[in-house]
Amino acid sequence: MTDPLLDAALAARAHAFAPYSKFQVGAAIEDSSGRIHTGCNVENATYGLTICAERVAVFKAISEGARKFRRVAVAADTDVLTPPCGACRQILWEFCGDVEIVLVNPRGKIETYWLRDLFPKPFDASYL
Ligand code: THU
Repeated sequence: MTDPLLDAALAARAHAFAPYSKFQVGAAIEDSSGRIHTGCNVENATYGLTICAERVAVFKAISEGARKFRRVAVAADTDVLTPPCGACRQILWEFCGDVEIVLVNPRGKIETYWLRDLFPKPFDASYL
């Protein structure tokens, strides 16, 4: 792969802590300065406290001071490419707005979506 964001998401997958589902996910988010922040899913024995790769990547980026984002990549080993779950879509909308979401698998299959298409009619701060 020649896109550093996709490479980063695929590499982050290797760090997944997924002993329960065995489903490893990596994510990468590019901030407005071009810096790439990565995440993997981190599961928990309670199951419910599991956090997805996308949210780990977003929260790591926010905690490093990043506030504007250009693109997000999600990597999993599925032929039908894995999209962000509903909770992650909400978090991505909060911090990225209508960002490009690139889905990828280790065999180089790629699909790109706008978040507004994956997450129509979002609830956000404009309602408060
Ligand atoms: N998971 C993610 O990390 N991101 C997704 O986009 C889909 C699901 C994780 C959560 C859990 O650890 C495992 O994949 C199975 O749901």
